[in-house]
Amino acid sequence: MAAPITVYEVGPRDGLQNEAATVSTPDKLALVRALGEAGLRRIEATSFVSPRWIPQLSDADALVPALPRLPGVSYVVLVPNAKGLERLADALRRAGEGAPEVAAAVFMSASESHNRKNLNRTVEESLRELEAVVPAARGHGLRVRGYVSTVFGCPYEGAVDPERAAAVAERLVAFGCDQVSLGDTIGVATPALTRRVVSRILRTIPAEQLALHMHDTRGTALANVLAGLDLGITTFDSSIGGLGGCPYAPGASGNLATEDLVYMLEGMGHETGVDFEKLIAAGALAQRLVGRRLPGKTLQAELARTEA
Ligand code: HMG
Ligand code: MG
Repeated sequence: MAAPITVYEVGPRDGLQNEAATVSTPDKLALVRALGEAGLRRIEATSFVSPRWIPQLSDADALVPALPRLPGVSYVVLVPNAKGLERLADALRRAGEGAPEVAAAVFMSASESHNRKNLNRTVEESLRELEAVVPAARGHGLRVRGYVSTVFGCPYEGAVDPERAAAVAERLVAFGCDQVSLGDTIGVATPALTRRVVSRILRTIPAEQLALHMHDTRGTALANVLAGLDLGITTFDSSIGGLGGCPYAPGASGNLATEDLVYMLEGMGHETGVDFEKLIAAGALAQRLVGRRLPGKTLQAELARTEA
């Protein structure tokens, strides 16, 4: 039997943070509900980052207490620092009894320039900050995911030494992260590079604690997932319809599309727990909400077939 796979949905966060259109809070909640009802059990819902940096997600304080309570579905939100954690804890307090299950995700880059651009900190400063934030989040009873960005390449520095990515990932685990997601932030990885970098990181972190977060900018994301599967990785991040991309790079596609990932995995005999028809409906909803044709290939094929 092929191993069951966790498809970790990042559309409402990684997707919407990069869309030019700002989606209203009720529309975001409708999308999250559609994703949960399609069988996605881990949904990254929003970020408690600076509203000046990411205005698209500035409604996080209102969104989190209103997240739909769905059986078996839990949420993750990005928390960059102590202030973000405080905002998350406050949102959960306001949600009161029966608050949705929410975990925190911290993030930083393997490369110096991307970390500065994204977090206004050096890598060392981010490590010091997260060394306090991760245990503080656990002190609130939260599970914590850690992201390492630019693991496979940096938009400013080019190639990134796998030792640097491994060192950051190891520190995140040491701080108390339950899982570390390895980010191909700009979609430059190939299967050969994925094998090389992930094999290195597997020397110190077990496969069960790792996830792969591939962007599909150059069309290699699914191939990289296959390389990850071969190495025993069982959690893959993806975004409904391939939502996202970069508002400053017209035509650039975003994360690996969830429907493409589910189609491939299920076809290979891996259980994902996802209802394919409901997933396509969620993709159609995402497309309506952002008002543009999304890049997901399976989504477009299915929509064309059902409209024919
Ligand atoms: P900063 O300007 O250095 O912040 O930004 P600061 O600590 O100097 O504070 C400046 C002001 O921001 C203060 O307010 C703070 O209170 C406020 P003022 O006193 O001027 O009124 N502030 C905050 N407000 C709300 N929420 C907060 C917060 N923190 C400080 N949490 C900061 C530092 C981390 C805030 C900023 O750099 C930031 O928000 N960055 C986030 C960027 C981001 O969200 N990037 C996308 C997510 S990462 C990603 O997409 C990669 C991933 O998908 C994996 C992959 O693909 O590789 C995960
Ligand atoms: Mg990303």
